[in-house]
Amino acid sequence: DPLILLAAIGGYLFGSVPFGLVLTRLAGLGDIRTIGSGNIGATNVLRTGRKDLALATLVLDAGKAGFACLVFTALVSTPAGLVAGGAAFLGHCFPVWLKFNGGKGVATFLGTLLAAAWPVGLLTCATWLGMALLMRFSSLAALVAAAAAPLLALAAGRADVALLALFLAVLIFWRHRTNITRLLDGSEPPIGAKKT
Ligand code: G3P
Repeated sequence: DPLILLAAIGGYLFGSVPFGLVLTRLAGLGDIRTIGSGNIGATNVLRTGRKDLALATLVLDAGKAGFACLVFTALVSTPAGLVAGGAAFLGHCFPVWLKFNGGKGVATFLGTLLAAAWPVGLLTCATWLGMALLMRFSSLAALVAAAAAPLLALAAGRADVALLALFLAVLIFWRHRTNITRLLDGSEPPIGAKKT
């Protein structure tokens, strides 16, 4: 189906805009990939000390995936919207502009879920927030939220969203493999800490 292919390409292009990298560079903070964990996401932008830029990165990264999902849902179909959201996630994690070395996909995951099935998205965000407040590790909160999302989608009767969430959750675990090693050996920095 050419429209599904269009959703995949469009979603990928939206997702591949690295807002964390762009915003920190515009703010004169240098290359975010040389700071902290080296990741281009909101958690690492927070390590620069700029809470405003971290929040903007989170909102824009989630927004680009949510927007892609909503646009293709409205213009084509629900499956096309899911493809666009998933492709935006892939674009964020593997952007052609950064030699395919992008982010870890947490914000684009949340944005896609919010757009695809907002109750599932809200509960996944709540899971992330609850774990983050409780444990103080962004990565651990993301791993728990990613694992919960497919189950939440199933409970909401959305097998299609559950399947997408499962696929993206596997990729989130893969993208967090260095975080997982650090969590296990006790060297993962808590949220807001400047060093990694
Ligand atoms: O969103 C990514 C987050 O879960 C971990 O980021 O910079 O601590 O590797 P970071």
